[in-house]
Amino acid sequence: ESAVLVDRFDRRFRSLRVSLTPACNFACVYCRPADHRTFQHGSALLSLGEIARVVRTAAGLGFRKVRLTGGEPLVRPHVPDLVADLKAIPGIAEVALTTNGSLLPRHAGRLKSAGLDRVNVSLDSLNREAAAKLAGRDVLAEVLAGLEAAASTGLPVKLNVVPVRGVNDHEALDLALYGAERGWEVRFIEYMPMGRVAQSLPDATVPTAELRERLAERFDLHPDPSVSASDPARRWVCRRTGARVGFISSLTENFCGACDRMRLTAEGQLRPCLHQDAGVDVRGPLRAGADDAALAVLFNRAADAKWAGHEMTAAEPRFSERDMISLGG
Ligand code: GTP
Ligand code: 5AD
Ligand code: SF4
Repeated sequence: ESAVLVDRFDRRFRSLRVSLTPACNFACVYCRPADHRTFQHGSALLSLGEIARVVRTAAGLGFRKVRLTGGEPLVRPHVPDLVADLKAIPGIAEVALTTNGSLLPRHAGRLKSAGLDRVNVSLDSLNREAAAKLAGRDVLAEVLAGLEAAASTGLPVKLNVVPVRGVNDHEALDLALYGAERGWEVRFIEYMPMGRVAQSLPDATVPTAELRERLAERFDLHPDPSVSASDPARRWVCRRTGARVGFISSLTENFCGACDRMRLTAEGQLRPCLHQDAGVDVRGPLRAGADDAALAVLFNRAADAKWAGHEMTAAEPRFSERDMISLGG
């Protein structure tokens, strides 16, 4: 039996979120600072082979789930090959992808055949102008085409919505209905003011309680007991329609207590928490020939650094200094 990795608070790690690149083909207001630059020497990023190597170590430490994030992960070539390699690692039960959807028309088929388990796609608005305002250009048609492509290959889909006060928050009900009609869970994510975006977009968070109240107009929502405690989303089901909606309430309903996540940045830093700036470099040791035992030591070091959780609230929303775009959410 393989070992398990636990942190100082006895939380067991099961999920590794791997950012493939800080680059993105969108410029979402809540994620990408106006002056975000992504030019890097190619070798600054872990290669796909190096990523697979790190995931193999993680699997040996009890990690079961990998989520590929960005930036936009699909701007990187050969993601389907990486998915196939990760799925072949003993112990890895699930490989999922978080994407803005725009490149799914091109890649959904190959991702599905490579064994990808599911996709979470950002859809912030069904209104062309509001979607463009949020993403920095006219993206709605691309995203909808991506959703259609994913669904037609049989990939399970969840929709991620970041309500931004005054821009798309009035669409919550429409988005929930849109997802319900298609059998896609819709998750409303409290905007976290992080990094440089925090200055350009203050006071934009819409608290979960407010959204839930708006949805109650049409949905008769009951807490869904089937969710796992470590899931950031608290899920509700509408008994009448079977629709599922989730709320990821980092500010108003902190969920750090059951956290099972570690992150790997595109540059090869293990980060114990989205909001903790401390990290453990694996790229250097990897390239210097570290063996599996040495890599496991680095995982243990990152695990030991994990804090109990952030203490930010809606009234005191100071999150990481790091920009969301380079952390992958
Ligand atoms: P599944 O539950 O596996 O479908 O995925 P997920 O919701 O964990 O991942 P996704 O990439 O779709 O993230 C949705 C939102 O949850 C993003 O805004 C993330 O930043 C946020 N999120 C994910 N994990 C954490 C976490 O550990 N802490 C906080 N504060 N937010 C998180
Ligand atoms: N606050 C909350 N969620 C965010 N996301 C991006 N930036 C933020 C933020 N500042 C979401 C994206 C995507 C997921 C990876 O993180 O919408 O769904
Ligand atoms: Fe886990 Fe950190 Fe997210 Fe809290 S903020 S749930 S500790 S990753």
